[in-house]
Amino acid sequence: MYQTGRRRLAFAAGARPAQACIRRWRSAARMTRMGALTSAAGVRIPAILYGTAWKKGDTERLVRTALAQGFRGIDTACQPRHYDEAGAGAGVAASLGPTLSRADLYLQTKFTPVAGHDPARIPYDPDAPLADQVAQSCAVSLRNLQTDYLDCLILHSPLATEPQTLQAWQALESLVDAGRARQLGISNCYRLDQLEALCRAARIRPAVLQNRFYADTDYDRDIRAFCGAERIVYQSFWTLTANPQLLGHAVIQALASRYVRTPAQVLFRYLTQSGVVPLTGTRSQAHMREDLAIFEFDLAERDRRAIDLILAA
Ligand SMILES: NC(=O)c1ccc[n+]([C@@H]2O[C@H](COP(=O)([O-])OP(=O)(O)OC[C@H]3O[C@@H](n4cnc5c(N)ncnc54)[C@H](OP(=O)(O)O)[C@@H]3O)[C@@H](O)[C@H]2O)c1
Repeated sequence: MYQTGRRRLAFAAGARPAQACIRRWRSAARMTRMGALTSAAGVRIPAILYGTAWKKGDTERLVRTALAQGFRGIDTACQPRHYDEAGAGAGVAASLGPTLSRADLYLQTKFTPVAGHDPARIPYDPDAPLADQVAQSCAVSLRNLQTDYLDCLILHSPLATEPQTLQAWQALESLVDAGRARQLGISNCYRLDQLEALCRAARIRPAVLQNRFYADTDYDRDIRAFCGAERIVYQSFWTLTANPQLLGHAVIQALASRYVRTPAQVLFRYLTQSGVVPLTGTRSQAHMREDLAIFEFDLAERDRRAIDLILAA
């Protein structure tokens, strides 16, 4: 349906096939019905994000491919152990041009506390005061991503104690004040009381929570309810890899056949219709297209309820 629609548009404009092809490539994002959420901080967040972890030397190429396919949100981290943030920035820079500007993109990165780094590759001075570590890490991210602002800067995980977490958060807040980041988020925060405490203490509240979505945490049921009430955008990772039992479940398999989609598409669509922003880090162009194609269909209310029941079981 999607391809037919695009082809119809291209030929209606009288384009020759080669021109039509270029036009299709350039307008991929506009032509997909990819939605976006507006966060409490007023930032538009694409409804699915492309994640860049573990891609090493392929990062630039895969980011270019993801943007060409139609992704408009990129997730990375200033954490050389798992991410090539400069590669992500190079992929973005190579994709910008007359039909794609920085303002069309949502770039999100993370400050990783010392404990999360390979000790040989910490991108800031680990002996500096925490506030300086945060500022140095953000400066590296801006340089790596070749931008003068971030759409979201995420604290990669809470620190060992609540006062340390708050100290890091206050340093992040000053980066928002300075115009370096439009909003803040927190990741790997699996205790509701910890998230609540941060929200109480923060001057600039978290706009995003990025967590592992899997059965071991009961799919963050209480945390997601809190996020809904507090207008914190919940982003999921490990969505496919940690949930083979969901993807193979008879209900999701039956929905996949009925909607003529894959189980992964059904799960991603369920999440986006539930207000969750999933991350996909696929290396496959076919999967990139499938992940973006989830916006071509809607799960009916009763089918979403059926998936709610599986998650609650
Ligand atoms: N905050 C954190 O601590 C944290 C931790 C982990 C990840 N993340 C973020 O989340 C992103 C996603 O990571 P992830 O752990 O969720 O897993 P992922 O890297 O997205 O891996 C997904 C796996 O599922 C496969 N797959 C099969 N069908 C697919 C489909 N239709 N679409 C997508 N993948 C499909 C992929 O294989 P193919 O490549 O063959 O498609 C891949 O092996 C990361 O890149 C990173 O940005 C954040």
